[in-house]
Amino acid sequence: MTFYVTTPIYYANSLPHLGHLYTMIVADTIARSKRQKGIETFFLTGTDEHGINIERAAERNNRSPKEQADYVVSYFTKMTAAFGLDTAHGGYDIFMRTTEPFHYEGVSELWRRFANAKTPKGHDAIYKGHYEGWFCAACAGYKTEDEYAKPANPNEPPTCLVHETKLDRISEESYFFRLSDYDEVLLALYESRPDFVRPEARRNEVKSFVAGGLQDLSVSRLRSSVSWGVPVPDDPKHTMYVWFEALSNYITAIGFGNEQQERAIGFEKFWPALHLVGKDILRFHAVFWPAFLIAGGVELPRGIFAHGMWLDPNGRKMSKTLGNTVELDVLNRYFSIDAIRYFCLREMVFGQDGRFGYEGLIDRTNSDLASGLGNLSSRTLTMIQRYCDGRIPSGNISEAALLPAKRAGVDTDATTISGFVEHARDEFIRYFEEFAFSRALEEAWAIVARVDKMISDAKPWDLAKEATQQQTLNAVLYRAAESLRWLCVLLYPVMPNATREIYEQVGLPGELSATDPTKLTWGELQEGSQIGEVKPLFPRIDKAKTMEEIRSQKSEVRDQKSETRPSGRVQSETRPSGRVQSETRASGRVPLSGQHTTEAEAVPGAEGVVNYIDITDFAKVDLRVGEVRSAERIPKADKLLLMTVDIGEEKPRQILAGIAQHYQPEKLIGRKIVVVANLKPRKLRGYESQGMLLAASVGEEGRPVIATFTEDVPNGARLK
Ligand code: MSP
Repeated sequence: MTFYVTTPIYYANSLPHLGHLYTMIVADTIARSKRQKGIETFFLTGTDEHGINIERAAERNNRSPKEQADYVVSYFTKMTAAFGLDTAHGGYDIFMRTTEPFHYEGVSELWRRFANAKTPKGHDAIYKGHYEGWFCAACAGYKTEDEYAKPANPNEPPTCLVHETKLDRISEESYFFRLSDYDEVLLALYESRPDFVRPEARRNEVKSFVAGGLQDLSVSRLRSSVSWGVPVPDDPKHTMYVWFEALSNYITAIGFGNEQQERAIGFEKFWPALHLVGKDILRFHAVFWPAFLIAGGVELPRGIFAHGMWLDPNGRKMSKTLGNTVELDVLNRYFSIDAIRYFCLREMVFGQDGRFGYEGLIDRTNSDLASGLGNLSSRTLTMIQRYCDGRIPSGNISEAALLPAKRAGVDTDATTISGFVEHARDEFIRYFEEFAFSRALEEAWAIVARVDKMISDAKPWDLAKEATQQQTLNAVLYRAAESLRWLCVLLYPVMPNATREIYEQVGLPGELSATDPTKLTWGELQEGSQIGEVKPLFPRIDKAKTMEEIRSQKSEVRDQKSETRPSGRVQSETRPSGRVQSETRASGRVPLSGQHTTEAEAVPGAEGVVNYIDITDFAKVDLRVGEVRSAERIPKADKLLLMTVDIGEEKPRQILAGIAQHYQPEKLIGRKIVVVANLKPRKLRGYESQGMLLAASVGEEGRPVIATFTEDVPNGARLK
């Protein structure tokens, strides 16, 4: 059995940042967990080196495009080594570069197949035409009217909504890929393979995008306008569209269309892949890429998982201009690789946006790692050192010793703890396979907490004072050490260094990277074996001092003071300023912050006016977690969206919301929102609204920003 996992290949126009590091950490974790189970795994990352944005970056830096790419790649490889993600550290298997000759060969082969292919509707897959439209160099994407902002001055070009940079006007001969013929086949694909695009909310987005109709895609540029690219076979006047060429890296890297790579790695052996991508580039992967592969007669990927974006602690997009980016060199200097990996996987619910701040990272390191796992390990091993002469004691309690053990309140039945650990292991694996890393880690930490409690309740330091309790003491320490062994095996893919260290300290032989957690058997920890040297694992970080140092390097995110951890709390998604309020009705704001306001009243605090309500008033409002199932515009009502929202009841509720000018309905599908569930139903424009959703009102114009969650929450959960 084999497995193939990929990250996107990163543009070689700028240096790597947290977003890049994150996907590599996730891919690396998945790869390690597959390898642990004996599955031969191939992990690809790399750089996307062609196109106009690389050409321009090279120009700005006075380099040739290849020199520009080499420069960025050298930084990337330094970074991957520093974070233990390269081949030498058991990480990626290939750092793919699209300037490699084998890539040219493979991608040309795919193009040739295209040139002869028919669409599912029987037309030529490729045709020559004329492209007229706008193009964003930074996205390397063609932009339709709803994807750019019109300029104030009609003589200026529009700007990209993502990058806020000016678009290029293109008017030239181009090859087109007849994407419009692939809608039905793609919809059938999403239907027949529900796991093809994950998470589900993203799958729904992709489905509605395709269902809305696809336009043919320009897949070449004239060499005279973009020369830095792969020439179109048999028509060198054209270079291939960079996304077509970049996506193809996933197959050319392992040998599609070139013998040398096929021999070294094996397309036949490893394809199809699981693609991990950021949600911003999902459409390219979930729509264009499968269509290209169908045209080329190539098997489709195993699946595509789109993760969310890292935002700053205040929920803002990270950007150089705001000065709120997380610098990799700062991370590298102040934090251990494992702490960063743990934080990334624990803090971001995979698939949703997450918040990253140095303070949060320090807090998690101190609480979960130093006081949690690290402390459990050192207290267990120190006691084994002290009370058992550094040897793993026996876990058995003989008949004669049962009574004293009971007297000490220690469970004489070892299966209580082993059953707990086994169950947590099963849950851990189940969540892991669903890529619910955060949930999986919660399971592992449930083991940490349970074993910690077992030790604190048993008080080994008291047991050690009574000769009759030697077996009880031994059993408690054996159970703790055995749990540690299990934790090491489970957590190895997430924290390869720390778990190896603990493993060694427990005195365990063998390679964690090849120990299958599904095959763990309780009791295999050898009685009598010598433990290793006990060393502290996760030193506590002095928060004030470290933050001061980081700040003084000017690399700190702004507003750290107000940093909050997204622990299931309601947060306004983009801008946390502004009050949380109702958006469905002009009047009747819902008091969420404990301060009652009506339309006529002043903003609480602004003039010292605070009208308190008491908790019973607040409890009258039944707030529930809802998931948007459908959303559509209402004819002749500019502002209103008609939605159905699942709040855990038998049938979804129909809710109207005045957000149509700010949200595209299809983008809401799958979103978790907050619903006032006990509001008297009322009719708007002939439709009954059976509740109302909450949103912050931002800025002068009261732009609604829907309240949402950054962690997984079940539909119908009550907010209180
Ligand atoms: N070159 C293309 C990908 C081609 S794949 C065939 C590209 N490169 S990129 O360098 O711009 O971005 C790569 C990835 O970084 C994307 O998956 C994107 O989502 C991710 N991230 C960029 N900023 C991010 C965050 N703030 N948080 C998480 N990931 C982010 O697109």
